[in-house]
Amino acid sequence: HQRLADLIRDNIRTVPDFPRPGIAFLDLCPVFSQPALLGALAGAMSDAFAGAFDRVLAIEARGFVVGTAVACHAGRPLVLARKSGKLPGPVDSVRYDLEYGSAELQVQRDVLRPGERVIVVDDVLATGGTMAAADELVRRSGAAVAGYAVVVTIPGLGGEGRLGPAKVFSVLPTGN
Ligand code: PRP
Ligand code: MG
Repeated sequence: HQRLADLIRDNIRTVPDFPRPGIAFLDLCPVFSQPALLGALAGAMSDAFAGAFDRVLAIEARGFVVGTAVACHAGRPLVLARKSGKLPGPVDSVRYDLEYGSAELQVQRDVLRPGERVIVVDDVLATGGTMAAADELVRRSGAAVAGYAVVVTIPGLGGEGRLGPAKVFSVLPTGN
């Protein structure tokens, strides 16, 4: 995994002051553009949970890229957590806080089934607000969160502390 982490680190571009002053944007497009690297990333995420999950929940928008790759690699069905108003109903909704204002994630009702083991996939775990909203959507359905998988965790923002007890797998920073 050290080599994968190095490759990922080398292929993330940090863009200062984007999309707003003071924000350091992590551009993962160079990772997504390399099939072998995206495939290795998907394999590492799937292996981190030993394939012990029934479904992959991917978070709009950047989580769709990673989640789709994991679902294909693992041969598990993909479920989309979308921002408000994008999915035909009935849907379940959870609001979450952004730096300024709030947003809402939705999943189609009855797609996640009671007792299923779900891994939640996104690109970046920062404050954890987004992942915590997805977590709540899974729990509301009666399914179980088998784990959380992200490419990058930004340390010091308390993201992991907002999630449930399931394992968090993050390629960067290394050590977990
Ligand atoms: C970014 C990123 C994560 C989230 C992490 O998504 O892709 O989903 O923020 O931040 P948090 O842990 O503080 O919630 P963003 O909402 O910018 O939208 P996008 O994925 O649709 O580009
Ligand atoms: Mg996102």
